[in-house]
Amino acid sequence: MHIDTVRAAYRRYAGVYDLVFGKSFEAGRQQTLDRINGRKGLRILEVGVGTGLSLPDYNPDHTIVGIDASEEMLNLARERVAKKGIRNVESLVEMDAQKMTFEDQSFDVVVAMYVMTVVEDPQAVMNELKRVCKPGGDIYIVNHFSAEKAGLRLKFERMIANFAELLGWHADMPMSPLLSNAGIEIVTIAKLPPFGMFTMVHCRNSDTAAESLLQAV
Ligand SMILES: C[S@@+](CC[C@H](N)C(=O)[O-])C[C@H]1O[C@@H](n2cnc3c(N)ncnc32)[C@H](O)[C@@H]1O
Repeated sequence: MHIDTVRAAYRRYAGVYDLVFGKSFEAGRQQTLDRINGRKGLRILEVGVGTGLSLPDYNPDHTIVGIDASEEMLNLARERVAKKGIRNVESLVEMDAQKMTFEDQSFDVVVAMYVMTVVEDPQAVMNELKRVCKPGGDIYIVNHFSAEKAGLRLKFERMIANFAELLGWHADMPMSPLLSNAGIEIVTIAKLPPFGMFTMVHCRNSDTAAESLLQAV
């Protein structure tokens, strides 16, 4: 979706976002943060931070920078930070994930949760995640990826893909093309509740081919 369509959609959603998506997206946020929080002193970028639902749960020892395309979503994230007295959020900035203004290799960890199916050019976002992540750093992506093989699920996903603009996300994005061209190593691919509908992919920013784990999906 074009970024103006995204902004218009999230202007409408912002007020009800936590109520509608707070619980249903919780497992992805929690499992991602569990993996990161065992470490200390990381500089983390959260791309598409939204209303900042994850912000209270980062280890206070980490420093968080959040970006989002929607000012309305960011304002709710800023309110959350102020209300909860969260002290490890360095900044929350309006920025397009497809062309970020950060220097190369700025972050130890880069996180993008439930964002890839919303953006117009997921491959551009993937390139940016890699560019701003330090070599050897970690990239976590949580998303709904469509079925890779023919079948009922793929048929259904292609059908609802026609309503992408209305829904605010694309239902028919497969994982392999996005990751196999990204020049990253895939560490883990985990299916998440509810019903394995979402997937968490942990990647390392090194140029080892992504093929082997992808073939196992
Ligand atoms: C489904 S929400 C996910 C929010 C949050 N990550 C969560 O877990 O609840 C998708 C978010 O991505 C943001 N977004 C969409 N396109 C973007 C872009 N090109 N650059 C930055 N953020 C974008 C939207 O504004 C929205 O806040």
